Amino acid sequence: MLKLGIVGTAGFFLPGDNTSGTPRNAPGQFQVPLRIPPQLAPKRTDAATDYYEINIRPAQVDILPGKRTTIWGYDGMFPGPTIRARSGRTSIVRQINNLPVETNVHLHGGAVAPEHDGGMHEMIAPGSFREYVYPNNQIASTLWYHDHSMHRTARNVYMGLAGLYLIEDSFEAGLNLPSGEYDVPLMLQDRRFNGDGSFDFPANNHEGVNGDTILVNGVPQPYFRVAQRKYRFRILNASNSCHYELALSNGQAFPHGRRPFLRLPQPMLQIASDGGLLSAPVPRPTIAIAPAERVEVMIDFARYPLGAQIILKNKLGRGTTADVMRFDVTRKATDASAVPAVLRPIPPLDGAVATRNFELSINREGIWVINGLSFDHLRVDAQPKLGSTEIWNVINRSNVPHPFHTHLVMFQILDRNGAKPAAGEAGWKDTANVGPLETVRLIAKFDGFTGKYMFHCHNLHHEDHMMMLQFEVVL
Ligand code: C2O
Ligand code: CU
Ligand code: CU
Repeated sequence: MLKLGIVGTAGFFLPGDNTSGTPRNAPGQFQVPLRIPPQLAPKRTDAATDYYEINIRPAQVDILPGKRTTIWGYDGMFPGPTIRARSGRTSIVRQINNLPVETNVHLHGGAVAPEHDGGMHEMIAPGSFREYVYPNNQIASTLWYHDHSMHRTARNVYMGLAGLYLIEDSFEAGLNLPSGEYDVPLMLQDRRFNGDGSFDFPANNHEGVNGDTILVNGVPQPYFRVAQRKYRFRILNASNSCHYELALSNGQAFPHGRRPFLRLPQPMLQIASDGGLLSAPVPRPTIAIAPAERVEVMIDFARYPLGAQIILKNKLGRGTTADVMRFDVTRKATDASAVPAVLRPIPPLDGAVATRNFELSINREGIWVINGLSFDHLRVDAQPKLGSTEIWNVINRSNVPHPFHTHLVMFQILDRNGAKPAAGEAGWKDTANVGPLETVRLIAKFDGFTGKYMFHCHNLHHEDHMMMLQFEVVL
């Protein structure tokens, strides 16, 4: 039985560990190289549109040594292929469902028309397809696409239905950030495996799951060979419910027992949040990242000697989940990229014409609710006017965190329990972690489309059971 607000041993979902003596199937740490999801090429393009096609299907892939894992993947891949879109050019993505179950696709962070948003009533039956139109009328940002099936999102994403969708624009390109092979996505997920290599997904879990194996781009605790230069990493927490707190080690893990090169770990330099660049880079010794959030950082490996090995640590992990991956500095490279002192101006939103309260809690039946309600597509829970700005108070009445996500809009965080947000959160966001008993005030302008959109907790188990409402943008 669920008890009010008390979930898990640590109070909320952290990756599990493997100190319990149960057999673990993953390879040792840092045995497998990082893979980068391939970029999807358009089937065709015309003056204003790129046309893509994805075949959603089961596949057998190698995750653990000597075992095959059945996944459900976009083009049979886990994670799915990366789409690189251009701001101002439309993408049309034909999603062909060859799964044994129905699915739909949501572009997380995308401002798209309601009928292309992955709503509950636009499912793709097995054997049929749907074309999603993404106008990309938004600034450069790291978005992602994933399944959004009613009550089934947690299972379907766990099975592998997630991929990256990057929007580029000329403003960002003009900043001369690291690009090409030095612009690297890191999709973080946790999993548990059965002895035969299959994913161990607990059915009917309303709280969340915590895996004992951290995957980066589908690879368990990989190593990544880097050059002595600056890199851009686009970090996405695509876990169902696990939170991470990331930090770099000081490079102590030298192969031949040499002393650490840096006395203190290098902070990561955060340059972007969910919805694009921050106004200026922010040094971050540690970075907390909740499910669905994106954080982009620059790391300068020129500060380390050749041979240095730097571990990306997870300070919330224990045992097998305390380390995420390792960077091995193995070669020299030229570096013409820059660390601009100023990135992209973030015009503060103001002039709110309405304030709404949303209380996050669990009801007596053990159902996660917002304002005591669960999702009803026939009921509209808020009606912002097209072009208007509103303040939303998101009030967590439980003892677990809820990553609160709005479709359609990017918001700004005004304050947390009355205090200004940390610099890394002072940018465009579509997901805000709302900690236990915390109140987060958001401000958003409801622009672009009229119609109905969901907002929900992005712990996928809470989302499925039923921490989701809908707003309707009206004229
Ligand atoms: Cu990524 Cu409605 O969610
Ligand atoms: Cu979304
Ligand atoms: Cu939640």
